[in-house]
Amino acid sequence: MATSMVIGTQWGDEGKGKIVDYLAEQADVVVRSQGGNNAGHTVVVDDVAFALRLLPSGILYDNKINVVGTGTVIDPKVILAEIENLESQGKSAKTLQISNRAHVILPYHNRLDEAEEASKGALSIGTTKNGIGPCYADKVNRIGIRICDLMNEEVFKEKLAYNVKIKNKILRDVYGVEPVDYYEILKDYLEYADRLRQYVTDTNYNVVSYIKDGKKVLFEGAQATMLDLDHGTYPFVTSSHPISGGASVGAGVGPNYLKNIVGVVKAYATRVGAGPFPSELLDETGDFLREAGHEFGTVTGRPRRCGWLDLAVVRYAADLNSLDYLAITRLDILDKLPEIKICVGYTLNGEPVKGFPADLQVLEQCKPVYETLPGWQTDISGIRHYEDLPEAARRYVERISEVTGVRLGIVSVGPNRKQTIVLQDVFGA
Ligand code: GDP
Ligand code: IMO
Ligand code: MG
Repeated sequence: MATSMVIGTQWGDEGKGKIVDYLAEQADVVVRSQGGNNAGHTVVVDDVAFALRLLPSGILYDNKINVVGTGTVIDPKVILAEIENLESQGKSAKTLQISNRAHVILPYHNRLDEAEEASKGALSIGTTKNGIGPCYADKVNRIGIRICDLMNEEVFKEKLAYNVKIKNKILRDVYGVEPVDYYEILKDYLEYADRLRQYVTDTNYNVVSYIKDGKKVLFEGAQATMLDLDHGTYPFVTSSHPISGGASVGAGVGPNYLKNIVGVVKAYATRVGAGPFPSELLDETGDFLREAGHEFGTVTGRPRRCGWLDLAVVRYAADLNSLDYLAITRLDILDKLPEIKICVGYTLNGEPVKGFPADLQVLEQCKPVYETLPGWQTDISGIRHYEDLPEAARRYVERISEVTGVRLGIVSVGPNRKQTIVLQDVFGA
């Protein structure tokens, strides 16, 4: 089966966009199956950086079909702006398909996201404030508005009226913030509907048909394993399922169709927003990683928290996603360090911890167990063949593979397409 999938193994921003872009060259179809414009994937093509939020990274090629699938949440204003922006940079969205079953983000979702975060005070999650959580909450509560509803003016009017009535009560009476205006939303969204209509289709049917027809289909994960609603560090998570099983549900394809699952591992760890981060570095090494790696959010510009690579996290991700390969990114950011630590597991009261703790208070008591490996102190960004990497760099990535039990597929040494070292044909089998 000619499918492959790219999944984040940590807290996001591992470089999924770069790996998807690299693999997309071999693909016919690229599919986003969950999340929304909380994602920010930077892809560098010929030294020009493109920041993608909802559009699949395959959109940067002229000849790929790009699918925004059923499990996503779509802010029409944002996706239309993204399309316009892309077109102004000489690219085209003519191959874009948007699922008629995906859910629509409305202005009351953004407003609720902000109000809920503000009301939580010190317990706030640090969301992207894009309305992601409230939109998924409406979907689960079966009062959401889907793309096919937006395409049907009568249905849309009715569902919008119901939602605005309820949401305005909550906005005004619970949170004491400004309500939204039904007529303004109606006018804007009917206009968005007209502009989006050309892309809307039954992507579930199409994606399975492409696979059956032998086309190469690449699934692009957004967010990451530790932000999964069920399996991440709840409640400091997003509201979708960024794991491989989530792609099956989100794209509407059975699990047996999903092969060649690639877990993207940033060579160190970052987290944006609040929540547990056992290997976080609050010292100058953390500052070094933030500066050397320009670790500031693609979407929000927020500084990312930085730390050593945590293999307790990646091992957990390996099992949750049934990873076939690892793609290790940003190895070049570690070039200058004389030595590098790697967390290989946790102990709790002196005993090794199995699995990943659910209770955040327990997680807080866990102590990371570190191994110290020598750095390579050489610029590796120009290296193209694995055997040309310094021995210490090879030892570092091989240790990651050893501890997680997943073979190496790709090592990335820079943001450009050509700065990619391939060890396995991950799309092959
Ligand atoms: P994503 O959300 O997982 O797609 O990751 P982001 O795009 O938010 O952040 C990753 C950043 O690292 C982007 O700016 C990429 O261009 C960049 N990047 C990806 N791989 C590498 C690499 O191997 N080395 C360096 N220096 N940058 C990389
Ligand atoms: P990509 O695809 C990093 C984080 C937010 C916040 C939490 C919930 O670029 O890797 P949300 O707005 O989803 O309700 O926020 O999840 N978050 C991300 N962090 N990368 C992302 O996407 C993220 N998407 C959401 O910072 O902590
Ligand atoms: Mg990102």
